[in-house]
Amino acid sequence: MAPQHAQAQTQAADRRPRPASFHHDAIEPLPPIPASPSDLAHRAVLCKLLPQSIEQIAARLGRLPSVQRDHAAIAEFGVHHGGSFQHLLPHALEHDLTIFAVDSFEGMGEPGPRDGGKYPKGRLSVNGPDTFTRRFGMHTNVRVFPGFIPDVLARFDALTRFAFVHLDVDHYQPTVDVLNFIWDRMLPGAIVAVHDYFPGRTDLTTPAVDEFLDRHALRHDGLESTVVWFTKP
Ligand SMILES: C[S@@+](CC[C@H](N)C(=O)[O-])C[C@H]1O[C@@H](n2cnc3c(N)ncnc32)[C@H](O)[C@@H]1O
Repeated sequence: MAPQHAQAQTQAADRRPRPASFHHDAIEPLPPIPASPSDLAHRAVLCKLLPQSIEQIAARLGRLPSVQRDHAAIAEFGVHHGGSFQHLLPHALEHDLTIFAVDSFEGMGEPGPRDGGKYPKGRLSVNGPDTFTRRFGMHTNVRVFPGFIPDVLARFDALTRFAFVHLDVDHYQPTVDVLNFIWDRMLPGAIVAVHDYFPGRTDLTTPAVDEFLDRHALRHDGLESTVVWFTKP
């Protein structure tokens, strides 16, 4: 075969569609996400609450304007490596809902006066969103929003309505900001679950939740494995 012809054949072969497994073979498998017993307990609570939230919304769907139903989504604020996100994702896929993953991916922001010294700036950084996106981004339902709260909240479409929210950002002010942002965007019957709630604590997540519930004259529906949850009326 003339060298030029051989080269043309190689190029043609390169243009043939790759087998579906091509990408998976070419990419190194990602290491498993580490989990402690308390992580597993936390995730078990989420796996109970998310279907409950969907069921409660479904019971009211007939009364929701279709524009709200059509823009229903799940969101996690504070995804880190994706330890809890990996348990929310199958529910999003099962119900064909968009699922938002919101995180700075650069760790904590600057602590404020209500945060103490436990989580300094940059703690829990995963050095950007690339690993998370590689692990989960192949699902078209997944939308990754890298950035610091509150600025990143501006990326949400005005029509988005939340069917379930998991909030896990540890610091006081971003917890306040997310609660204020999501509340008018929650579907009636939808559950907000907040991690790291310790009754009586006066710094970090706990006072943010207590003040929010007081302001809205609400009570929480439950507290288990440091996950507190409440429902949008
Ligand atoms: C405890 S980790 C989340 C753990 C995760 N939900 C899980 O269970 O596997 C807290 C996350 O919140 C993120 N975070 C904290 N403050 C933030 C802020 N102001 N804006 C965006 N992300 C923030 C951190 O980057 C970190 O990844």
